[in-house]
Amino acid sequence: MTIKADNLVWKIGSKTVVNGVSFTAEPGKMLGLLGPNGSGKTSLLRLIAGLKRPNSGRITLDQADLGSIGRRTIAQRVAFIEQHATTNSNLRVVDVVKLGRFPHRSMFSGWTHEDDRAVTEALERTGMTAKRHDAWQSLSGGEKQRTHVARALAQSPKELILDEPTNHLDVQHQISLLRLVSALPVTSIIALHDLNHAAMFCDNLIVMQEGKIVAAGSPQEVLTRDLLKSVFKVEAYVETSPHHARPHIHFAR
Ligand SMILES: Nc1ncnc2c1ncn2[C@@H]1O[C@H](COP(=O)(O)OP(=O)(O)OP(=O)(O)O)[C@@H](O)[C@H]1O
Ligand SMILES: [Mg+2]
Repeated sequence: MTIKADNLVWKIGSKTVVNGVSFTAEPGKMLGLLGPNGSGKTSLLRLIAGLKRPNSGRITLDQADLGSIGRRTIAQRVAFIEQHATTNSNLRVVDVVKLGRFPHRSMFSGWTHEDDRAVTEALERTGMTAKRHDAWQSLSGGEKQRTHVARALAQSPKELILDEPTNHLDVQHQISLLRLVSALPVTSIIALHDLNHAAMFCDNLIVMQEGKIVAAGSPQEVLTRDLLKSVFKVEAYVETSPHHARPHIHFAR
């Protein structure tokens, strides 16, 4: 079952930012969250990660109400990579990644082989092994982003929530990150702006507009010419790619 949202509403002042959102993230699948700037994606992800409480509605993790689960228990299974993640510190890369192990450790347990294995594997999977002793502050924007992804992987999550994780990455690292997330045995929810990347890698998509879900389903079902026009305000042609059999969007120039 994993993550289920039921009629979520979140308001800030008089503005309803998330307006009656319901969806189910299928176990082990990658759910793409699309929508124009300001449509409520980040707000929704912060509700799902337990960083904000909805005004009404319910989020459940394996049928347990998120509000009734302790923060530490949530952190042991849900990893969240924020849109503007920062780490203000003099830490080295490996130390930032080690922070991902924090929810799994008790006051009395020392650093274990399992912790080591998770950190080494996370560095390897994100291509950050060679830079593991570098100072965080010395990294490029994309390397910082990949380090945050490594920290999330080191957390060994069952659910992974990513808010535009590819936005500072070069094309090679965009593709390798999406490939990595789609191959992980976790349930992931990922906000993306690149519609062709979403079509290629996500199992299912939901589209937000002004706080509401206006389309949901497979990439084939969701990414229609009409939706691109009505939600994203672009003229486009959609074909099925002969290379990967997913929809491919050509934008009119
Ligand atoms: N803390 C806040 N205070 C005031 N307004 C907010 C706050 N958080 C979100 N909003 C408003 O809610 C709306 C949705 O914002 P949100 O960041 O969720 O959009 P988004 O879909 O993630 O956009 P983007 O694609 O630009 O990241 C915006 O109009 C934003 O200004
Ligand atoms: Mg956002």
